[in-house]
Amino acid sequence: MVAGNLPQHVGIIMDGNGRWAKRRHKPRAFGHNAGMEAMINIVKRARELEIHYITVYALSTENLKNRPREELDELFNLLRKYFGNHVKELHKNGAKVRVIGDLEPLPADVKQLLEDGEKNSPPNGEFTLTFAINYGGRDEIARAAELLRAEGIEITEDTLSKKLYTNGLPDPDLIIRTGGEVRLSNFLLWQSAYAELYFTPVLFPDFTPAEFDKAVKEFSHRTRRFGGI
Ligand code: IPE
Ligand code: IPE
Ligand code: MG
Repeated sequence: MVAGNLPQHVGIIMDGNGRWAKRRHKPRAFGHNAGMEAMINIVKRARELEIHYITVYALSTENLKNRPREELDELFNLLRKYFGNHVKELHKNGAKVRVIGDLEPLPADVKQLLEDGEKNSPPNGEFTLTFAINYGGRDEIARAAELLRAEGIEITEDTLSKKLYTNGLPDPDLIIRTGGEVRLSNFLLWQSAYAELYFTPVLFPDFTPAEFDKAVKEFSHRTRRFGGI
């Protein structure tokens, strides 16, 4: 069990699926599939710990631009699978589902499934699972600024925050990146201003609930000063 300060909101950069598959001489899609299973287990664990918000980075704006069509199709198939089945179970268990990112360029049926997943969420769910899909922090901030400009609203931290995809979600307290890279790759740039960062070499399909506990435990020992002394 994890004692001490718990994060309210954890963001996860689920990286390393491709390398995990490669080590097994399997196609990258095999790694993405294993990554989805790992994610399902992490979400269960987060709920046991009474963490209220999990946000997972599933597809970046750069992934959509720079990955081969076949890999993107595999990722869309996984989204079809997840949003076609698991999401209903989440709803039954009182979890809300949210999607952040630009869904316009996605295949129409995938976009529809994602939107239905959000729409059919229980109104008073005490846990929110947010999927960042075709999400980019820069795209999000530029869009928010453009919305304010078009509406003639003054740009302040507060007005801009309210135009972000994440409006209504608390900022992440902890951001975990698996797979060994030490960067944010355009994830929650605005919202992570004061997030604690945790990097692990563990590839995402190997990121078990016990590994998640390690990250949460390390968080509980960090001192957050928010600029104070
Ligand atoms: C992360 O795993 C999942 C997505 C970006 C969709 P990768 O596919 O980036 O795996 P590696 O980094 O190539 O191992
Ligand atoms: C970040 O992983 C995006 C997701 C996990 C969805 P990438 O594998 O795309 O990141 P880079 O390209 O190594 O920075
Ligand atoms: Mg990667």
